[in-house]
Amino acid sequence: MYDVYKIRQDFPIFAKKINNKPIVYLDSAASSQKPHCVINKIVDIYQDSYANVHRGLYDLSENITYEYENARKIVANFINANSKEIVFTRNATESINLVASSWAGYYLKQDDEIVITEAEHHANLVPWQIVCEKKGCKLKIVKIGDDGSYIKEEFIKTLSEKTKLVAVTAMSNVLGTIFPIKEMTDLAHKTGAKVLIDACQFAVHEKIDVADIKCDFLVFSGHKTYAPTGIGILYAKTELLQQMYPYQTGGDMVDKVTYQKTTFAEPPARFEAGTPAIVQAIGLGEALKYMQNLGLDSIKKHETDLIRYMFEKTEQIKNFKHIGTSVNKGGVFSFQVGNIHPQDLAYVLNKEGVSIRIGHHCAEPLVNRMGYNSVARASFGLYTSREDIDSFVTAVNKAVKFF
Ligand code: ALA
Repeated sequence: MYDVYKIRQDFPIFAKKINNKPIVYLDSAASSQKPHCVINKIVDIYQDSYANVHRGLYDLSENITYEYENARKIVANFINANSKEIVFTRNATESINLVASSWAGYYLKQDDEIVITEAEHHANLVPWQIVCEKKGCKLKIVKIGDDGSYIKEEFIKTLSEKTKLVAVTAMSNVLGTIFPIKEMTDLAHKTGAKVLIDACQFAVHEKIDVADIKCDFLVFSGHKTYAPTGIGILYAKTELLQQMYPYQTGGDMVDKVTYQKTTFAEPPARFEAGTPAIVQAIGLGEALKYMQNLGLDSIKKHETDLIRYMFEKTEQIKNFKHIGTSVNKGGVFSFQVGNIHPQDLAYVLNKEGVSIRIGHHCAEPLVNRMGYNSVARASFGLYTSREDIDSFVTAVNKAVKFF
């Protein structure tokens, strides 16, 4: 039984107040709050068991190396991969840049095509624009529906034998749209293209199974999956990692170094130059275990209930317009209320203790394509309750009266 009120007690921030009001945190799509187990793990390591990894023949170093590599196993288990296929990065942005540099930068050629959708975050757009500029490739953009939905015919139309990479979000950070990544991967593979999935929003929404999806690359950031900032992951199939060139160079990613020549370590070490984000990676392992203990299916069921409730309750707000109403949608709601500027809305909501994000959400072309320069966005986490939505609706109604 999913008891959201009990779960909220795992998150110390909810014992605090903002503007003398309980915290109604509706910005988990930007970054999620952290449970006690993750915070305690970080404090415990720094207090009791900290050292560098892969470098010391002493207990502290060996123990923390075990924990760091165990976190890699937890990530692998979380997405049903092999731990050798998991590279720790700073965040999903770095993971995508790594693929752009170390795979696309070497293997794509003039006139090859990269396919993305209109719904991409800048992190899954700008690196490909740069690859295209450098290599003479072409970036093709799959159109989405006016409601933000995936249109299969549009996707198929964009694919050709020139397509070498399809890079798509599994869930839009603006519209909440869930894309059918397994079907898209299958279609892309039929043209011979590789597939990269941006799972930043999806990773907290639903169980990921890379063996089932069969994607070639998958990325997500820890800070959205209830883990610390400064840690992200890149999953890549073993044969691709083997073919890929180092991204950054230095300590820990080498095999043999002489003044004349350097050979590189096997993946994933080849892509983790320098001292990694040790404690953050271990914190990520803790956060993923926390989600697994709650059950990804239960988290999803709770989110589905909240989505229904959100649609129901926002009907009570005058001139409330949802931006992104695809049938397949996760708990991310962009919206506009009458002519109220999103900034004014966010200001009033904050006074009521309600935290939302406004702007283009690092997806400027998408927000423009939906007909806006800036939109307000409320997004859910596994700790969001129906009462949070009630408080949101009350606060928005206050803003409507005020403006
Ligand atoms: N990509 C994050 C968001 O959507 C930061 O807010």
